[in-house]
Amino acid sequence: MTDFAAWMQACQARMERVLADCLPAATLAPQRLHEAMRYAVLDGGKRVRPLLALAAGEVTGAAAERVQHAAAAVELIHVYSLVHDDLPAMDDDALRRGKPTVHVEFDEATALLVGDALQSLAFELLASHKLAADAATQLAMVHVLAQASGSRGMAGGQAIDLASVGQPLELTELEFMHIHKTGALIRAAVLLGAHCGILTEAAATSLDRYAKCIGLAFQVVDDILDAEASTATLGKTAGKDAARNKPTYVSLLGAARARELAQELRADAHAALDTLSGSTTRLRQLADFIIERSY
Ligand code: IPE
Ligand code: IPE
Ligand code: MG
Ligand code: MG
Ligand code: MG
Repeated sequence: MTDFAAWMQACQARMERVLADCLPAATLAPQRLHEAMRYAVLDGGKRVRPLLALAAGEVTGAAAERVQHAAAAVELIHVYSLVHDDLPAMDDDALRRGKPTVHVEFDEATALLVGDALQSLAFELLASHKLAADAATQLAMVHVLAQASGSRGMAGGQAIDLASVGQPLELTELEFMHIHKTGALIRAAVLLGAHCGILTEAAATSLDRYAKCIGLAFQVVDDILDAEASTATLGKTAGKDAARNKPTYVSLLGAARARELAQELRADAHAALDTLSGSTTRLRQLADFIIERSY
């Protein structure tokens, strides 16, 4: 196993513990909701956003014991976005992380409530753990996550995504959609992790540039995988974008140009890290993983 693979596995195991601990027990009332929350969050997913938060924390000298709660908060928002994304009113998907989606395994109302409750729990985590050196920084972290999740971030991006079905988008419009629906939360993961340590203004600018590049690249690769990978590899239904007539980087540029673009964004992300003085190895490796992943 490579050093990166071992680091990734250790971080994923850490996050599984943290997430399992912060979620209400399935025996606690209302049991069905808590059971569904745990079903949605635990035992699945690559945990890319927590990995990014932990890696950004390494740049600013933050203790993983602090970063892990900020990382969990971002993952909870991400899972909420997936549960809602899969609903019949949105992408109408039956498979997620190799399991039936929450509305299929439970029911639609429960899936709505799982999303609602995970979102609240994310902000509860930010409010109930000491994450940053001072209260003002911690408050800034709440602001970062709220903006990234809301109508000017992920939720707004999802609204554009739904309004764009069957529409021939311009490349700038497609980029705007991707930056919001996926990029915003990835950027928040990097910034939140960094805020747990000592973050200078110059480092914040570089990390922001890095995060914007890999945030867009992440969805470009997601579009490519949707078109090219199998359902078994992805753990979610492949080919859905074309089937639902969604504008994607593949439909607009073709797969070859989309792959080139992902490589360009990786180079830009690496370049952004060159100006940083802390340990950027993990962030570099994560940029590579995001571009080269097969699932
Ligand atoms: C899928 O995200 C949805 C997008 C934002 C593209 P991931 O590919 O990170 O999904 P998991 O968390 O690994 O299941
Ligand atoms: C989802 O984008 C972005 C979210 C905010 C969940 P997709 O709809 O492409 O994600 P998948 O392919 O279903 O994971
Ligand atoms: Mg979607
Ligand atoms: Mg989807
Ligand atoms: Mg997709």
